Amino acid sequence: MDHFLYRDGALHAEDVAIAEIAASVGTPFYVYSTATLERHYRLFEEALSPLPHLICFAMKSCGNLSVVKTLGALGAGVDVVSIGEYLKAKAAGVPGERIVFSGVGKTREEMRVALDGGIRQFNVESEPELFALSEVASSMGLSAPITIRVNPDVDAKTHEKIATGKKENKFGIPISRARAVYAEAAKLNGIDVVGIDVHIGSQLVDLVPFEEAYLKVADLTRQLRADGHDIRRLDLGGGLGIPYERSNAAPPLPLDYGAVIKRTVGDLGCEVEIEPGRLISGNAGLMVSRVIYVKSGEERDFLILDAAMNDLIRPSMYGAHHDIVPVIEPAPATLPQPYDIVGPVCETGDTFAKQRALPPMQAGDLVAFRSAGAYGAVMASEYNMRPLIPEVMVNQDQFAVIRARPTYDEMINRDSMAPWL
Ligand code: LLP
Repeated sequence: MDHFLYRDGALHAEDVAIAEIAASVGTPFYVYSTATLERHYRLFEEALSPLPHLICFAMKSCGNLSVVKTLGALGAGVDVVSIGEYLKAKAAGVPGERIVFSGVGKTREEMRVALDGGIRQFNVESEPELFALSEVASSMGLSAPITIRVNPDVDAKTHEKIATGKKENKFGIPISRARAVYAEAAKLNGIDVVGIDVHIGSQLVDLVPFEEAYLKVADLTRQLRADGHDIRRLDLGGGLGIPYERSNAAPPLPLDYGAVIKRTVGDLGCEVEIEPGRLISGNAGLMVSRVIYVKSGEERDFLILDAAMNDLIRPSMYGAHHDIVPVIEPAPATLPQPYDIVGPVCETGDTFAKQRALPPMQAGDLVAFRSAGAYGAVMASEYNMRPLIPEVMVNQDQFAVIRARPTYDEMINRDSMAPWL
């Protein structure tokens, strides 16, 4: 459930009309609902209670300061994958004790900054990274809390570009080697082994791969404890999928996912961490765009929008589906017609949807892309010298621009002229 509903024939974000935001900030833009973010976070809270747990929002899915602060204020931790995200999480008021640092390529400099600022744990992904962290932490006279990310060789049954838990993927160490690597880690200076980490992929719509992976983690926990390691924390990653197409069957709910966690690792006495991104932010955001032209082709009609692939890359990158709805609610008897919905960028790949049914549209009409809160704004670029589009946040009847659209001068002045020109 989200808080983007039609009221009196017009799409709203909570109590604010989308058309009002469009008139104020211009199009295209992203808009997030505070109530939806909070609701999704609380669903995970309920799903994991009464286990001791921390929900670490994967900020890569939606990294705006106001979004992170909204969740942090509820007690959320944050999963970061770069020191940039770490610094932003801190700037949003999340303390280091609630930040976990993931990612396969952490540099020594990033390790140093995180150790200095305080960190809950590093999720270590390889032996070279382990040795580097040991060196950095001991040189600072500190001990780095770590989990080791294991690769359980489980098929997440999701898009190949976002599956991470198979042995051919670049992530984690093979679970078969875990005992040897933990033995190594235990001997290193500056390393404090606190637990195990696993993340098998994103947009999972089936709980079976989670169950398989978590059972393997439970077995490993028992083995490692028998080997003498004090495994007290399990980071179970993110990945629970969301309904992108309202017409399709809904994926499992956080409550069902929580039941899998309790069933598989609930009896181990560990603190459980999860790193959901998409389920918290995905359906908490829309991208709103205006129709520039309706172009009648020989074989099909095109809706040419003012948003493009650089603003929302998911359709062209993953063939992803986003529901696209008119901001003015169609009258009940309106006959929909098929459109190819495209942006202005000079690539055929700049296509959001083909032969999508919408009520008859005209230039100037507004449309909203649903489920655009996750991996939307964060993956945007300025391709074609198109400004990054603004982000807006709604809270009941208030809205605020939480990232402004840059001016063309600002964009041009970020370049500098080589001195010989
Ligand atoms: N933890 C780790 C270590 C991750 O790599 C990810 C996502 C997450 C947590 C959060 O996963 P989520 O709960 O959001 O599924 N750009 C792609 C998705 C990339 C996901 C990368 N890792 C997309 O637009 O679908």
